[in-house]
Amino acid sequence: MKIFKKINPLQGYLSNIDINKTIGFVPTMGALHQGHLSLIKRSQLENDLTVVSIFVNPTQFDKKEDLITYPKTQQKDIDLLISIDCDIAFVPSTEDVYLEKVESQNFDFGGLEKVMEGSFRDGHFDGVGTVVKRLFEIVKPTNAYFGEKDFQQLQIIKKMVELEKIPVNIIGCEIYREDDGLAMSSRNTRLNKVQRKEAPLIYQTLLKAQDQFHDNDINDVKEMVKNTFKNNPILNLEYFEIADIDTLTPTSLKIKEKKYRGFIAVFADTIRLIDNVALN
Ligand code: PAF
Repeated sequence: MKIFKKINPLQGYLSNIDINKTIGFVPTMGALHQGHLSLIKRSQLENDLTVVSIFVNPTQFDKKEDLITYPKTQQKDIDLLISIDCDIAFVPSTEDVYLEKVESQNFDFGGLEKVMEGSFRDGHFDGVGTVVKRLFEIVKPTNAYFGEKDFQQLQIIKKMVELEKIPVNIIGCEIYREDDGLAMSSRNTRLNKVQRKEAPLIYQTLLKAQDQFHDNDINDVKEMVKNTFKNNPILNLEYFEIADIDTLTPTSLKIKEKKYRGFIAVFADTIRLIDNVALN
């Protein structure tokens, strides 16, 4: 595997690749787990060459503490990438990604950025849009892979690519789960034993919501979710919303033709976990 820390040598290497070859790209913030590996494996299957970036993007963290405590395991990540035969790891510095100023571009994602994660994490999606746009400029991938665990992020990246007219296919990949249903996340490593044991309740509740969605009002489903977490001493519900997959606007009314998902964010102490599930 080739490891590049600087942009010029990476671009030099990529520019020597046959123009007809496809480049698959998996941007990550490191602390790699099976969920990331499933994206990388898909990219390897569908492309001639796979590039994985590892960059903990400061502008997408609205809380300093979250950035400081975000797990950083670079050597382990590199070893893991070598073990699965990844072609290229790109591990840039903040200076290289942001050049002069570590700040976000302001995007108008047509409202997608204002709801759910956007309403609880100030500036988060501007930060994500900025770094992904920059990484796309550097790597110029044919296909880029993102997990559906961050479904809102996935829709926003699709919108960003459309707005900025970036020639790349955005490919959403199914959520990869632990055996007990907990969605894989780099943050899971921060859970203590008690929190880890309780965390599968998040997915169990989403499955219950999925089960109830067809025959019940949205408000009743939301009430069920609220009650499930009401007296839970370990998990604190931040939000549960039902939204159609195009606008992501939380709703309490079902429209027959639309596709809906349930979106949840839960705190275990200061560790924030998100998940979502298709409802119809
Ligand atoms: O999903 C992530 O890990 C990050 O938001 C991403 C897409 C790598 C941008 O920093």
